[in-house]
Amino acid sequence: MSFLEIKRLRKQFGDVTPLRSVSFSVEKGEVVSIIGPSGTGKSTLIRCINRLETPSSGQILLEGKNICAPDTDLTALRRRVGMVFQSFNLFGHLTVLQNIVMPQMDILGRSAEDARKEALRQLRRVGLDSKAGSRPEELSGGQKQRAAIARALAMQPEIMLFDEPTSALDPTMVSEVRNVIARLASEEEMTMLIVTHEMRLARDVSTRVLFLNDGEIAEDGSPEQIFDSPLNESTRQFVMRVNSWQWVIDYGRTDFFMMMSSLEAFCQSRFMNRRLMNSCEMVVEELVSGHIQPCLKDYDEMRVEFRLETIGDNESVTLTAEFSGVDLDPFDEYALPMSDAIVNSKTRRIPQDGEGIRVWEIIV
Ligand SMILES: Nc1ncnc2c1ncn2[C@@H]1O[C@H](COP(=O)(O)OP(=O)(O)O)[C@@H](O)[C@H]1O
Ligand SMILES: [Mg+2]
Repeated sequence: MSFLEIKRLRKQFGDVTPLRSVSFSVEKGEVVSIIGPSGTGKSTLIRCINRLETPSSGQILLEGKNICAPDTDLTALRRRVGMVFQSFNLFGHLTVLQNIVMPQMDILGRSAEDARKEALRQLRRVGLDSKAGSRPEELSGGQKQRAAIARALAMQPEIMLFDEPTSALDPTMVSEVRNVIARLASEEEMTMLIVTHEMRLARDVSTRVLFLNDGEIAEDGSPEQIFDSPLNESTRQFVMRVNSWQWVIDYGRTDFFMMMSSLEAFCQSRFMNRRLMNSCEMVVEELVSGHIQPCLKDYDEMRVEFRLETIGDNESVTLTAEFSGVDLDPFDEYALPMSDAIVNSKTRRIPQDGEGIRVWEIIV
């Protein structure tokens, strides 16, 4: 018997049915990430597991007991199943300590003293003991999320559910939350189910990754399988999309400042270090200002699509430019020596057979 078993789960809202037939199981100590396009029902799925939503049909068995049964004690269930939300959900009028003490007294019936001790213990666990007396508004986003994790842990849940725990955070704060979750996984063997669009969290922390698509689990495998050699075509396309940045340059329609800030946001979301990020930005900037912009002045029919792809933990970063609408190669015919020198110092050309396509590997 698995610790958690989900069988043919279906959830319908009016004429929308995000979950058609979802089945999978989780063993004690497993860390399972759920990824998938937005709107596919990832939040709905984990909200069903602590019964913030009631499934339309199917079963959710926790240690063999169906928690969808009408006589389920929801308070007892939520004690066993901790939940961390994207938006922290801390009470603003209470201190961090009080936020963690209160549910222990209300739900577990702990004494004030025991609850306080437990809260401090959990705050130490997430590295926030010095903030016990602060109000949530005095904390950064990353600290708020760590406090919310401590609050959930203080209830001694048997499984923790995370719904996009890092998606409301600035990129600089994502790693502190990821590290806390990673430590829970590796040192404490906490059973966890993590919905995330942060691929590094899914890849580094989980023992298994589920790809939810079109109302079903389309693929269930190790992080290496899902991210490096997915079996399912829809998984492959999804993973490729989240690992790449694309921008199309069309005459008169491209805002180059927006292009560069979109590139920067992508580099940050992939946790590139400063040096690598600078290289990516400089290469794209030089290719655009040294080749594309001068060429566009003469050939306004030209269209160029840039694509930056990263593999794994940025072990390999490639930039592809595909151009159409011109007979010449803007990277041969239009060249500013200065731009070329910069591009050459930061890239290796990867020969391509096809016309109208150029590929560079950014030197990492
Ligand atoms: N309470 C609700 N009432 C009606 N529709 C909902 C409700 N919750 C979610 N949905 C719909 O179900 C679909 C899946 O939503 P959600 O689970 O939030 O997806 P995800 O978390 O994967 O982005 C969406 O189309 C959403 O609009
Ligand atoms: Mg969601």
